[in-house]
Amino acid sequence: MSDISLASSHASRNAAEPARAGWGSRAGFVLAAAGSAVGLGAVWKFPYVVGKHGGGAFLLVYLASVFTLGLALLLAEMTIGRLTGRSATTAFRMLGGRAWAWAGRISALNAFLILAFYCVVGGWTIAYLLRSITGEALVADTARLHSQFNTFIADPWEALAFAGLFLVATAVVVIGGVQKGIERAGKILMPALFVLMLMVIARSLTLPGAMDGVAYFLMPDFAQLSGESLLQALGLAFFSLSLGAGIIIAYGSYLPKDAPLVSSCVWVGSMATLACLLAGLMVLPAVFAFGLPPDAGPGLTFIAMPAIFAQMPFGHAVAIAFFLLLLFAALTSSVSLLEPVVAFLIDEYAWPRRRAVVVVAIATFVAGIPAALSFGAWKDVEVFGRSLFDIMDYTAMNIGMPLGGLFVAALVSWRIWPQARTVLGGMRARWLVPTWRGMCLVLTPIAVLAIWYQNL
Ligand code: PHE
Repeated sequence: MSDISLASSHASRNAAEPARAGWGSRAGFVLAAAGSAVGLGAVWKFPYVVGKHGGGAFLLVYLASVFTLGLALLLAEMTIGRLTGRSATTAFRMLGGRAWAWAGRISALNAFLILAFYCVVGGWTIAYLLRSITGEALVADTARLHSQFNTFIADPWEALAFAGLFLVATAVVVIGGVQKGIERAGKILMPALFVLMLMVIARSLTLPGAMDGVAYFLMPDFAQLSGESLLQALGLAFFSLSLGAGIIIAYGSYLPKDAPLVSSCVWVGSMATLACLLAGLMVLPAVFAFGLPPDAGPGLTFIAMPAIFAQMPFGHAVAIAFFLLLLFAALTSSVSLLEPVVAFLIDEYAWPRRRAVVVVAIATFVAGIPAALSFGAWKDVEVFGRSLFDIMDYTAMNIGMPLGGLFVAALVSWRIWPQARTVLGGMRARWLVPTWRGMCLVLTPIAVLAIWYQNL
């Protein structure tokens, strides 16, 4: 069994050697990449962002972004990894020249910034797991759930302690080099999360009034779309596919040379989208049934879910299983976020691995403090009219990741195109080659620049 762990930094050093340890199989890669993609983005972020931007029309734009730019950039990141066998910064430098290393640094910075607020929501997940175990979270009254949630996130010590705990768990996985085990467990636990979501959907859809939520989610009303929603849909596509943060580059560097790239991309993209669709079908109908405002913001999933569990057979057990599986999914994503920052310090500055992990985890915690406090003690602090949590989230999703994607697209479709196209060498569907290039060379810059222009 070959080593599918991304933990081994030596692997990235020896990358140029043909015998580089790789994913044992394509399935190992798809599983790890999907483990990174499927996480809080789908279950926590997707429902409330859809709820904030008007439902069905937003969903369509999101899906269109995933299945055009999203897949093209997923393939481009995999290609960079496959061609160099290195993590992002080194890979960019090898392929593009010295100046391109900046693209790699920016993607590592994106990963850092995302992890800084991701750990806060990871902390909420741990807290809700504990509250499910004690039964405290199983309340049917959504008004009470709402105030419980708001009181909880406003408490600075709890917010920091749980975010810290989540980071410690992430760091332990990365230091312990147990990613391999985690990824194997994902083979069972990710499908288990999907099955559990299906069960919850069955309950959610049978709540009185749920069909209004289904209609809201699935029937497009284009009057609801604004320039800001286009930017959010694109950002969400990047976020849910783990793009623009160097992650797929690193994972792609471990792919066996003969693994089919295109179908791997389609797999990863489909799993990420499926997770989002299931989460939407789980949360939004319940939101309408309970009369919650769909634009309630980041608390939406955490407020609606316990109310469903409270009205469901075996709700207590389902709640525990749900938050446990969600925590697992969040950890496979946070591990993937920590890894590129650590790999950057190891590859660029030859830091020992353990030191890199500890320093990055502490730095992330410190950077995450404003996000953790922005629902309580620092609630009134605003930057450009946004809370501290929001501004970090917004910067990563709408500026950092699209910028990272722009670099990836430019490198592959312009700087190294003759080399890049060889990865599609054996493809029978010839139309894919110009389509892929067109999306990277033309569509990505147009979409990203146009949307930025309109918004910023
Ligand atoms: N895709 C992850 C999620 O949905 C978050 C993430 C973003 C992970 C970017 C890595 C890079 O939870």
